[in-house]
Amino acid sequence: MELPNYYVAAGRPEQSAPLLRAPKQRVAAAGGGGRRRGSLSFTAKASSSAAKVSIPKQWYNLAADLPVKPPPPLHPQTHQPLNPSDLAPLFPDELIRQEVTEERYIDIPEEVIDVYELWRPTPLIRARRLEKLLGTPAKIYYKYEGTSPAGSHKPNTAVPQAWYNAAAGVKNVVTETGAGQWGSALSFASSLFGLNCEVWQVRASYDQKPYRRLMMETWGAKVHPSPSTATEAGRRILAADPASPGSLGIAISEAVEVAAADQGTKYCLGSVLNHVLLHQTVIGEECLQQLAAIGETPDVVIGCTGGGSNFGGLAFPFLREKLQGRMSPEFRAVEPAACPTLTKGVYAYDFGDTAGLTPLMKMHTLGHGFVPDPIHAGGLRYHGMAPLISHVYELGFMHAVSIQQTECFQAALQFARTEGIIPAPEPTHAIAAAIREAIDCKRTGEEKVILMAMCGHGHFDLASYEKYLRGDMVDLSHSAEKLQASLAAVPKI
Ligand SMILES: Cc1ncc(COP(=O)(O)O)c(C=O)c1O
Repeated sequence: MELPNYYVAAGRPEQSAPLLRAPKQRVAAAGGGGRRRGSLSFTAKASSSAAKVSIPKQWYNLAADLPVKPPPPLHPQTHQPLNPSDLAPLFPDELIRQEVTEERYIDIPEEVIDVYELWRPTPLIRARRLEKLLGTPAKIYYKYEGTSPAGSHKPNTAVPQAWYNAAAGVKNVVTETGAGQWGSALSFASSLFGLNCEVWQVRASYDQKPYRRLMMETWGAKVHPSPSTATEAGRRILAADPASPGSLGIAISEAVEVAAADQGTKYCLGSVLNHVLLHQTVIGEECLQQLAAIGETPDVVIGCTGGGSNFGGLAFPFLREKLQGRMSPEFRAVEPAACPTLTKGVYAYDFGDTAGLTPLMKMHTLGHGFVPDPIHAGGLRYHGMAPLISHVYELGFMHAVSIQQTECFQAALQFARTEGIIPAPEPTHAIAAAIREAIDCKRTGEEKVILMAMCGHGHFDLASYEKYLRGDMVDLSHSAEKLQASLAAVPKI
């Protein structure tokens, strides 16, 4: 009998074992009756052994284990290493501490785990039907983060960011959103902890995804299209280009400007920064347990990269294992051809936003003025890359590849028609790269274990699917002149 493909294979596929899967399989807390913190778990059986998979109690900080420390952020005026207190207008103390710490593990607060329990542990699923369609000897596993209330991995950091702000007495938070996923995640998290939330949604996404805006409003947030007339940065961009589709860099400038001008308002970022990647490691830590429970180790770990948080969140705990000699996977970041930050950007100090309000970060960048064409993966339209990912890339611990959006949507249809889940446009990049790898395995006969980050569903991205299905989607590559012009504006440091 064909087993449902959400079953995770044991050593011998014909004896596939019960899955690490969603709420029905919750195991009652040990110690009789009541639910005990951290005891929420799923049973996974690999052949004869059984193991519990539970929500991790700590986040993992890769910086503690790197042989070379990442370059520090610089003050935008003095170009000297940033003093943590310089970040105080934007972030509460505990998030600043997490941004700069070299501690290996950070305890996850009980209140955060309590919210994580709404959807974590997330499922690890073997894509058996996709493997069959491709005729590959490879095994494809995906860690699915679309079961969160907002539909992606973003609440993994939205919840702790909102909680630390609320705990510090902050009343208002502001942010940007590209795909609408991060804005929804922070709106959801803010509603749980009584924070007012204001979001600048990139114009292209605001127009393409009215239901994302409505989700944010349903959770009580106020949403502006970006560029907006509400800020100096937005007004300046609109004066130069009234039809600007916006970009994450512009939306960040607007939110940062508002936070910096008001003591009672803090800024939250959905990617890029160390503390954001730190919170996302809950994905990789959980996945390590899930794979161990079925006796698998990955040969390749694949994720899409916008600012780097879902990729880093899955990959960093596996990279720790590799650095400690316990496994040896390859790591592959996948970015859009229209915004090829790792593959075509320079590694230099640059601003995180378009207006130049943020500290300078050493990262792969296309230049802070680069406005990517409005591809459907709005969350990947960012000119920079997380400094930590950029550093890991420079150290040679990972690879990167860029892929055009029509190949990604073709892969998304293959995935949806075999695995059932309709992916958000961003992880279609990871799916396309996993399919390339699986097809290579078909050629070579290698039985590789491919692990992929499936970081969100695309239920509010169906307009993009409509374009693709009607044959109206086109590939968009950055123009060489546009890239040269924006690279010329990267600060010389
Ligand atoms: C579903 C989804 N995936 C990926 C990304 C890219 O961000 P990151 O590289 O930080 O995971 C986004 C960003 O908005 C997103 O919404």
